[in-house]
Amino acid sequence: MANIVILAAGKGTRMKSSKPKVLHSIGAVPMLHRVIQAAQKAGATNSVVVVGHGADLVKQSLAGHQSLQFAVQSQQLGTGHAVQVAQPLLHDSEVTLILYGDVPLIKAESLKPMISAAQAGKLALMTLITENPDGYGRILRNSSDEIIGIIEQKDASPEQLEIQEVNTGILACPTPLLKQCLSKLTNDNAQREYYLTDVIALASSMGCEVEALQPDNDSEVVGVNSRVQQAELERVFQKEQALELMEAGLQLADPARFDLRGTLRCGTDVFIDINCVIEGEVVLGSDVSVGPNCVLKDVKIADGAQINAFCHLEGALVGQSAIIGPYARLRPGANLGEEVHVGNFVEVKKASLGKGSKANHLAYLGDAVIGKGVNIGAGTITCNYDGANKHLTEIEDDVFVGSDTQLVAPVKVGKGATLGAGTTLTKDAPAESLTVSRAKQITIQGWKRPTKNK
Ligand code: UD1
Ligand code: CA
Repeated sequence: MANIVILAAGKGTRMKSSKPKVLHSIGAVPMLHRVIQAAQKAGATNSVVVVGHGADLVKQSLAGHQSLQFAVQSQQLGTGHAVQVAQPLLHDSEVTLILYGDVPLIKAESLKPMISAAQAGKLALMTLITENPDGYGRILRNSSDEIIGIIEQKDASPEQLEIQEVNTGILACPTPLLKQCLSKLTNDNAQREYYLTDVIALASSMGCEVEALQPDNDSEVVGVNSRVQQAELERVFQKEQALELMEAGLQLADPARFDLRGTLRCGTDVFIDINCVIEGEVVLGSDVSVGPNCVLKDVKIADGAQINAFCHLEGALVGQSAIIGPYARLRPGANLGEEVHVGNFVEVKKASLGKGSKANHLAYLGDAVIGKGVNIGAGTITCNYDGANKHLTEIEDDVFVGSDTQLVAPVKVGKGATLGAGTTLTKDAPAESLTVSRAKQITIQGWKRPTKNK
């Protein structure tokens, strides 16, 4: 039970972007959304997002979260001012936790003890001990080692700059106390800003105990101000995900060359080679192997299937023990049965292939229902589009489609039929027969090749 205030009003000038900073993503999820998730997991009952730069875009991006409230800070007069703007929306009966929309890797596990400390009447401050305190506010302690305040870098004396305990910005405290301290802030400092950090000295002087807590992992409190920092945190985040998946049994050729931008569920003995990008919701059955340089987006792959190098799969279902690629493209609506083989330079869209069917080279199969045991020759194309509408191609079980065949849909090939190579099929082909459309082969005896003019 807590109010959570998330500061998200900043512009993020150093991102050099037209997008508000907090909407830049880590692992394909906007940083602000990650912070909100962590806050809710930690027990937020009342979440207030302070918006300013790009307020409309930020609000829009959160349209799905009904439980959020927004406070608009039209001028960024400092972190203390930002919390003052949110103040009327905070419930006195619950403690308040303050987070930052550009500090995306914060974990609920590190926040819970802060909320508990605040519930016990203390001001909980998340600090870091670092050899490189540059840029941070420094923590001031008295001779009894109690925290008595924070001094911002720009206001600090040379001795204070030596302090290695720094402020992460994250704090929690009883709400009435916070409100009382906020009302006393001034901007009498080097930056002419209302500093949230001044709350610490005020609370301490009012006899409130200040407790310092540390995150489990330093990366949890790192902020993103630039593209370089964004990329650094992306790697931290990816490594965390990779380790978690490996602990659950996934074999990764190299966790440093693995990118998951969504969710991945795996059976046992799954192997993923280097440089794969996994997006959306991906489910891999047991004994699945994925070769190097594949993109898998919103796909479900059954047990024992093998995805070879350089495949691009999106919105597809792959059956048990199927073999895909190398260089195959499965588009939305591709539904491959057991033991299907789809080889190099084959594109499948909105088409089903039954058990054991094969399209091993160079084909386009779109808007098609293909039965079991069908062999699709190289160069086969379903001509599904007449320029205005899409039409269906139906191929029944055990059909053999010769190479370089065009199936001009709507068209149907009966069970067990054979289509001769080079056929342009414009009418249905009957079952169990050979259908072929091609000019008869002739030979001109004694014909001479032209020779170059002298
Ligand atoms: C702040 C802390 C500093 C701490 C550091 C950690 C203060 C005064 N200082 O400094 O002690 O070590 O964070 O990174 O709090 N924001 C608003 N509205 C404002 C001002 C800021 O929403 O009016 C947001 C910013 O967008 C940013 C965050 O608050 O996300 C921090 O603000 P910033 O100005 O970067 O604070 P620092 O100077 O880094
Ligand atoms: Ca900052």
